[in-house]
Amino acid sequence: LRKNNPIYKVMFPSGEFGWIITRYEDAVEILKDSRLSKDVAKRYGAENQSIFVNNMLFSDPPDHRRLRGLVQKAFTPKWIAGMRDHIQTIADNLLDQLESKDQMNLIDDFAFPLPIIVISEILGVPLEDQDKFRMWSNTIIDATSSEHAEMFEQHAQEFIEYLNAWFDKVRKEPGNDLISQLVVAEEAGEKLTENELLGVVALLIIAGHETTVNLIGNGILALLEHPSQRDLLIEQPELIHQAIEEMLRYNGPVEFSTSRWALEEIQFRDQFISQGELVIVALDSANRDEQQFPDADVFDITREKSPHLAFGKGIHLCLGAPLARLEGEIAVMTLLRRFPNMQLQADVHQLEWRPGMIVRGVKEIP
Ligand code: HEM
Repeated sequence: LRKNNPIYKVMFPSGEFGWIITRYEDAVEILKDSRLSKDVAKRYGAENQSIFVNNMLFSDPPDHRRLRGLVQKAFTPKWIAGMRDHIQTIADNLLDQLESKDQMNLIDDFAFPLPIIVISEILGVPLEDQDKFRMWSNTIIDATSSEHAEMFEQHAQEFIEYLNAWFDKVRKEPGNDLISQLVVAEEAGEKLTENELLGVVALLIIAGHETTVNLIGNGILALLEHPSQRDLLIEQPELIHQAIEEMLRYNGPVEFSTSRWALEEIQFRDQFISQGELVIVALDSANRDEQQFPDADVFDITREKSPHLAFGKGIHLCLGAPLARLEGEIAVMTLLRRFPNMQLQADVHQLEWRPGMIVRGVKEIP
């Protein structure tokens, strides 16, 4: 597609027609184009919408700015940097439990629990419910695959009921966590509606569960497949920042952006996107575009200047990027320090990838 049909019209799983953008330069323009809306309530009618879209990811300015502004402070690089020692302790504690074993599943034993513990602590939700959160967010994020479509209604309802009960509890006894701050904002009545409270918290839980897991998983997998790169990183740990950017570029955890739709007819290069049509950006494809990244299919942790699109671009640029980068760095370096000889106990081509269009990651890494 990138070579011959870089702006390509297809039928989406929803049955609607839309465009897939695969080249880097086009992707950047599309992600920044304000003639493309993210507001799904405006497109389909608020009454037809799942409650999970009441957040910044599915809104346009000024609502987008208001909703993002409410949680932005908790995700600034400075605030996140203050969590370094704590995240390191969590990573070490998880690996302590594996020290005596001769085999682990990198996803279940390490890549999954680490970001979940961190986001649960930031939000103030009970860690003992993490298995439920994982099940609910898996179903919601992979809802486009037939494997999860039939569970969607039931799991979505359970998730909503759980969160509403939790908000009631927090309203009675607020703490210092992010949910308590959001509940206070909702009760003040001007900045956040009840539905938005649910939509924003659900988004943070889902984003915290589904993405960084695969930065760690896909990243370690790339190192295991490229032993010379792994040895280089062990010899020169100062390369870790570049290595994380390369992992995000080479096998990014979010394969496609969420969809946008045209507020008006848009001429884009030699194509006409009609008013109302959908557009999605193939982020992982753009990140392998040779026009932007020389030797794009080569995994090279010394690559300098890598303006990849793994976190998107424009006003919806990932809010959790500083947190994800820090978690990724700590996870990879701690694993390499403590298990420098780890080896993949499977044929890499036999590993099973997650279903669904958005998240790209393997189910298990033995
Ligand atoms: C948005 C990727 C981790 C919270 C996005 C977008 C991408 C992305 C591509 C934009 C989607 C679009 O424009 O359609 C990633 C990746 C991550 C990661 C690759 C890990 C490596 C996180 C974490 C959190 C988070 C840990 C929070 C706990 C969000 C939020 C948005 C977002 C709230 C919406 C921002 C807005 O609309 O203004 N992420 N994400 N992400 N991400 Fe992440």
